[in-house]
Amino acid sequence: MTSATLEIHLTDDDLTAGLRSDVRRGLTAEQKWLPPKWFYDARGSELFEQITQLPEYYPTRTERALLEQVVGEIAKIAQAEVLVELGAGSAAKTRLLLEALTAEGPLKTYVPQDVSVAALSASANEVATEFPGLSVHGVVSDFTATLDNLPRGGRRMIAFLGGTIGNLVPAERAQFLADVHDVLEPGEQLLLGAGLVIDPAVLVPAYDDAAGVTAEFNRNVLHVLNARLGANFVPEKFAHVAVWDAQNEWIEMRLEATEAMSVTIADLDLAVDFAAGEQLRTEISAKFRRDGLENELAAAGFATERRWTDPQERFALWLAERR
Ligand code: SAH
Ligand code: AVI
Repeated sequence: MTSATLEIHLTDDDLTAGLRSDVRRGLTAEQKWLPPKWFYDARGSELFEQITQLPEYYPTRTERALLEQVVGEIAKIAQAEVLVELGAGSAAKTRLLLEALTAEGPLKTYVPQDVSVAALSASANEVATEFPGLSVHGVVSDFTATLDNLPRGGRRMIAFLGGTIGNLVPAERAQFLADVHDVLEPGEQLLLGAGLVIDPAVLVPAYDDAAGVTAEFNRNVLHVLNARLGANFVPEKFAHVAVWDAQNEWIEMRLEATEAMSVTIADLDLAVDFAAGEQLRTEISAKFRRDGLENELAAAGFATERRWTDPQERFALWLAERR
């Protein structure tokens, strides 16, 4: 069996240190919040995969159908020798890209990157087995911290799929696009998948499904705090909330305390009080308009080459060239 190599730039100790500082900052703030990257331990990554199968969660299947249609065009334009994928997760849709880039000819290396070592090691090894001619080199790192760990050399395309760009707050997003620009050479490409602003009657159920899988995914962050920092959250005492913020054009996921409680985070020597009904923000999932994202790409130094959407205009793929 062919196996992938894995480069770990984020050890277990690094993760704990990062979580400690995020929790201290986020849970002592007036409006409590946590960054969404902490959802993704092994169970969180598994729950996200279940979300992608839900009838209400349209983004994954919409992006997959779009990719099925346009991967040939993408591969022709990109002529990539190296495909780098940020936040690759299970890399389920990436197989389509890998097949098209292999058929086009020059692809030699696939570099999946993710913060979740569990998700990444599994998917990198699966891809290595499925594509025996391909060198697969996984990178465990945080794309909001630095992209300097990504390999250089070969004609590269960076893929950032699934709409994960929407999970960054606007300032982080600008920094992220600038970092992607800086890591690429002129003429190399960014393939970006992002959800579009659509009817909230479709959007909200995608983040509040009838089976309650998204609620479990949301509460998983509390399990992560319990496991990693010795916290004593009772996750069942927090209700899942998903609201459409029409002004910011993002979905906001929150956890609402169903009663007043005090939670202890042993490893931080910290007690956190929640009033009944108090909400903790765990994720934003921004949706985009064509001009808005193209302006952001241009501001970061990218020229949009192509844009494709599904017939219902729920999701779009952008292929942008680093100038
Ligand atoms: N690209 C896949 C998975 C999307 S889920 C798809 O389109 O279906 C989001 C992925 O990004 C998860 O695998 C998660 O572990 C990863 N992720 C989230 N925040 C991250 C960060 N700051 N750095 C690196 N990976 C991150
Ligand atoms: C990974 N990311 C694009 C997902 C999203 O749709 O924002 C995460 C997610 N949160 C709730 N459901 C899915």
